[in-house]
Amino acid sequence: MSFQIIGTGKKVPEFALSNEQLSTMVDTSDEWITSRTGIKNRYILQDETLSEIGGIAANRALEDAGIEAKDIDLIICSTIQGDYITPSLACMIQKEIGATCPAFDVNAACTGFIYALDIAASYFARGTVKKVLIVAAEAISRYADYQDRATCVLFGDAAGAVVLSSGDNLLSIKLTADGNNEFLTIGGHKGNFPLRDISNHNPYMYMNGQEVYKFAIGSICRDVTEVMEQAGIQNEDVKVILTHQANSRILEAAKSKLEIDGDKFVSIIDRYGNTSSASIPVMFDELKHDGKLVKGDIIVLSAFGGGLTTGAAVLRW
Ligand code: COA
Repeated sequence: MSFQIIGTGKKVPEFALSNEQLSTMVDTSDEWITSRTGIKNRYILQDETLSEIGGIAANRALEDAGIEAKDIDLIICSTIQGDYITPSLACMIQKEIGATCPAFDVNAACTGFIYALDIAASYFARGTVKKVLIVAAEAISRYADYQDRATCVLFGDAAGAVVLSSGDNLLSIKLTADGNNEFLTIGGHKGNFPLRDISNHNPYMYMNGQEVYKFAIGSICRDVTEVMEQAGIQNEDVKVILTHQANSRILEAAKSKLEIDGDKFVSIIDRYGNTSSASIPVMFDELKHDGKLVKGDIIVLSAFGGGLTTGAAVLRW
């Protein structure tokens, strides 16, 4: 017993930031960003909170599933950080939507949605839940360093949600973690204890882009191959592949190495940038509402991110 996805939703902030507008704030250009990353636009939180956009995505997923907040038995939020350190984002979204069930956050950076699916699968296997809401909501613009042009241009904010009900549609799943604080970090809060030296503290994102780039391509190819083998499916069985959206060049490299029909890889990076763990549920919502998924379709997921973490899964729609 695992689960099936019965509803999807998404919400991005109101403020759209194009490459042209970003070029007035940061020493960069539309030409550089487009040719190196494929990104044209991203959305950035201004006056909204992450809880609000997460709550809207959640309500849309509930409506799509045809159920109410009171029917949810568990809320799992994937986020690197909600609006508060405590309460968790999951508790804030529980309040936004008027649910009463247990709620907690999981932080596996950009891989968090796949970690959340795996946790949900364990709850379904124990038989203690009938409906689970997963919301992946991220505000990386709060941590991007807008004085570091190599990283800040990549990220956008977004929330994506799915409602799960019991079923047998998770065919395989794999998670990895390899603790590494050299390639991708965001420093935590250091507090104001008077005798602690915080002079060298960097609260913003640091990334070694080229190392993460190599790690991403290698992990997508390894993880996708493994979960497809575990699920016993061939390339021709796959309807779509949803990989974490970080850079269109990463996607192109993975496509050519995997020898799977390139049209099966979904790309939304041009419109949203890298929205961390929200990118996969946002893609689910777009595919569902564009009528591109039919019952029985085989979907492969793959993500990678800070930690360093990776995850992949095969689902039947
Ligand atoms: N605009 C203009 N020029 C820029 C720039 C920007 N936004 N960012 C970097 N540059 C410049 C650099 O200063 C450098 O100039 P130089 O040659 O004069 O020194 C040049 O562009 C090349 O920089 P480099 O860092 O080598 O570029 P790259 O081709 O490796 O691309 C990334 C950088 C970040 C786009 C790429 O490494 C990447 O996508 N990595 C993976 C990141 C990722 O996936 N992160 C998320 C993980 S979840």
